Amino acid sequence: MLGAQWGDEGKGKIVDLLTPHFSIVARYQGGHNAGHTVYVRGQKFVLHLIPSGILHPGVICVIGNGVVVDPHALFAEVDELARLGIDVTGRLLVSDKAHLILPYHRELDVLAEARRGERKIGTTSRGIGPAYEDKIGRRGVRVGDLADTSADGPLANAVRENVATRNRLVGNAEMTGDELIADLRAVWTRLRPLVAETSLYLHREIAAGKRVMFEGAQGTLLDIDHGTYPFVTSSNSTAGGAATGLGIGPRAIQAVLGVAKAYTTRVGEGPLPTELTGAMGERLRESGQEYGASTGRPRRCGWYDAVAVRYAARVNGLDALALTKLDVLDGLEEINVCTAYRCGGETLIEMPSDMAQLAACVPVYETLPGWSAPTRGVTDFHRLPAEARRYIARLEEISGVPAAIISTGSDRDHTIVREHSIATQWLEGVSR
Ligand code: IMP
Repeated sequence: MLGAQWGDEGKGKIVDLLTPHFSIVARYQGGHNAGHTVYVRGQKFVLHLIPSGILHPGVICVIGNGVVVDPHALFAEVDELARLGIDVTGRLLVSDKAHLILPYHRELDVLAEARRGERKIGTTSRGIGPAYEDKIGRRGVRVGDLADTSADGPLANAVRENVATRNRLVGNAEMTGDELIADLRAVWTRLRPLVAETSLYLHREIAAGKRVMFEGAQGTLLDIDHGTYPFVTSSNSTAGGAATGLGIGPRAIQAVLGVAKAYTTRVGEGPLPTELTGAMGERLRESGQEYGASTGRPRRCGWYDAVAVRYAARVNGLDALALTKLDVLDGLEEINVCTAYRCGGETLIEMPSDMAQLAACVPVYETLPGWSAPTRGVTDFHRLPAEARRYIARLEEISGVPAAIISTGSDRDHTIVREHSIATQWLEGVSR
């Protein structure tokens, strides 16, 4: 289950819907840059790192090797869950191979953004990029490394070296490696009971017939390889990331569900061909409550970009779409769908690799009639207004993927599961 656009597609609600039918939910990339708002007994609560499956009793949640973990952010979430009466003991596993986000990563993230000036990426300032840089640069600190408690061992040396690099790059007060090492000793005491060889765990559970959901964060167009580089996050949010980010074989993935909004949003910088800056953009932002769950930033809004979703269908091998927030379009007289881009006298029907070219693209729109009867809360496809059904059919046609699930409101019940679609089998079994 992953995002088919630029993130914030409403994946959280779809995970909540499917989780009762799965035994395990496993995250494979990203970190606490993600944000998923949930309501527990009427209280608003935002999960960043822990899969929201944790809210369902009996579900085991896995944070895979592909995730970058800020231990203090993780503990803050665990504490908040405890405050709400949710005990994670025995239900949350963290990969010993996951890399840590340490305080210098956050500082370097902010510094890199300041240096980029006008060309900034608009990161979440959580240290995600620098943590992955250290991982790829082979100088990162992994969760399992914390077991080394020797004063001059590999952990202490790696931290001291990384802190020395930080002190060369960041001009303000010096950070001391020894203070951080002392903190990491305390982190280990608390983290240790959660740490596991999660690839092996998943392998055994899958072999035993357990149903596992692999949960992607961010979205396809924010993928480090396939997204709108360099305006991307630093991990593989696409389907292949599930295999490498969890240590499972690609054939363990039996189906791929892409979540897409019935329109488009993006936070942060970078090209967004269908962006609407005027009153219509404002209308979508207000009725869709398009403000970032992690940073509170207003999201940029635009019409549905079928070029982008078709691209997501290709690079992820999507079996189906979950189309979210259809109700946000209620009451619009006309709705545009981007079917191609015009660029330098050419019409492109495929997503260009070159960002300068994408930034210069103008969307080619097809205009469809809107609907006046509300779709909000509708649970039966046949009860949707005819124009809404037509809109969905057209999106399916040009995106090339069937919409198996349609979300018509924020409640779990405000959902249409299409008859005879692949989604019906995901909603069978395990239910608690
Ligand atoms: P980073 O992941 O903090 O490095 O940010 C890189 C880009 O990804 C920025 O444009 C962020 O706004 C975007 N981004 C990161 N996480 C999310 C998310 O969960 N939803 C939407 N955009 C995100």
